[in-house]
Amino acid sequence: MTTTVRHFLTDLDLTQAEQAEVLDLAEAMKKDKYGYKPYAGPQTVAVFFDKTSTRTRVSFAAGIAELGGATLIINSAESQLGHKESISDSAKVLARMVSTIVWRTYAQSGLEEMAENSSVPVINALSDDYHPCQLLADLLTVREHKGSLAGLSMAYLGDAANNMANSYLLAGVTAGMHVRIAGPEGYLPAADIIAAAEARAAETGGSVLVTTDAAAALAGADVVATDTWVSMGQEDEKAERLELFRAYAVDAPAMAQADKDAVVLHCLPAYRGYEISADVIDGPQSVVFDEAENRVHAQKAIMGWLLAKSGLADVAGVSQER
Ligand code: CP
Ligand code: NVA
Repeated sequence: MTTTVRHFLTDLDLTQAEQAEVLDLAEAMKKDKYGYKPYAGPQTVAVFFDKTSTRTRVSFAAGIAELGGATLIINSAESQLGHKESISDSAKVLARMVSTIVWRTYAQSGLEEMAENSSVPVINALSDDYHPCQLLADLLTVREHKGSLAGLSMAYLGDAANNMANSYLLAGVTAGMHVRIAGPEGYLPAADIIAAAEARAAETGGSVLVTTDAAAALAGADVVATDTWVSMGQEDEKAERLELFRAYAVDAPAMAQADKDAVVLHCLPAYRGYEISADVIDGPQSVVFDEAENRVHAQKAIMGWLLAKSGLADVAGVSQER
C-alpha cells in the first residue's frame, strides 16, 4: 500500500484525535527537547517567506535544528518561486532536495498547488486565510494553563475576517471548544468557513457563535484572543481599520466580562493601545510569551507527525499508516 503524503494547509487538515496526538507530541518534545531526530542526516527543510516574520522564521529554524535537520530560509522575492517558475515545477524540484516545505504566502491556492505537486509534506506558515501552526501553539498553551480543551469557551475579538479568526474558529471547534467570534458587520468569517466550522463542531461537541456583539462573545469566556487590526497586505487600509474595530479592543472592561480565570492570547506582533491594552497584554492573565515559545514545540510536533504519517520517518508515539 502506498502512503499518502500528509500536508498541513488548514486547521481542518487534522481531525480532533489527530490534533490531540500532535499536541501530545508537542508536549513530549517540549519535555525532551533534543530527544527526537526525524531530520537526522541532516535533512533540509525549505522555509519560504512571501511576507515578513520574526516568530515563524526563528521558531521553525530552532525547531528544525532540534529535530536534527538543517533550515534553508528563502525570501521568495529572491527565488524563482511563483513569479519566474510555476509553483508546480518548484514543488517537484524542491521535493527531490528537501524533506519538508514550509511556506508563508498570500493566496491559499498557492499552498494547495504546492501540496498537490509535492512528495514531501507542505506546511502553511500563514496565508491570507489561515495560520494553523499558530493555532497549534495557542491550543498547546491553553491546554497547559487549563488542563484540557474540550468544553472551554474561547472568544476572539477584532478583525473577524482575517487568517487568525478563521483559524481560531476551525482549530477551536476541532478541539471541541465553544468558539465565539466577534467583529463588525462586513468583517466576519466567510459563510463557507462558518459552515465548515459548524460541521466540525457537530462532530466534536464544540459550537460556533459569530456575532457583532463583543459582550456576547466575552460573557464568561475561558480564553480571550485577539490579533492586529491591520494584517500584512492591508497597510493601505490602516486609518479606517483603526477606527472600525475600536469597540472590539481587548482591554480591562472587556476582560471584566470574561471568566475571572480567563487566559489571554495574542499571536504577536501586538499593537498596545489598539487591539489589546498594555495592562492586559502585560498583566497576569496574559500567556502570550508562553504562546510564542510554544510555536517551536508545536511546529516540531507537526513536522514530526507529518513525516511519520507520510511514512517518511519513525517518530516515537506516532503510529504509521504504511
Ligand atoms: N505570530 C507570528 O506568526 O509572528 P511572525 O509574523 O513574527 O512570524
Ligand atoms: N493577521 C496577522 C497575523 C500575523 C502573525 C497577519 O496576517 O498579518
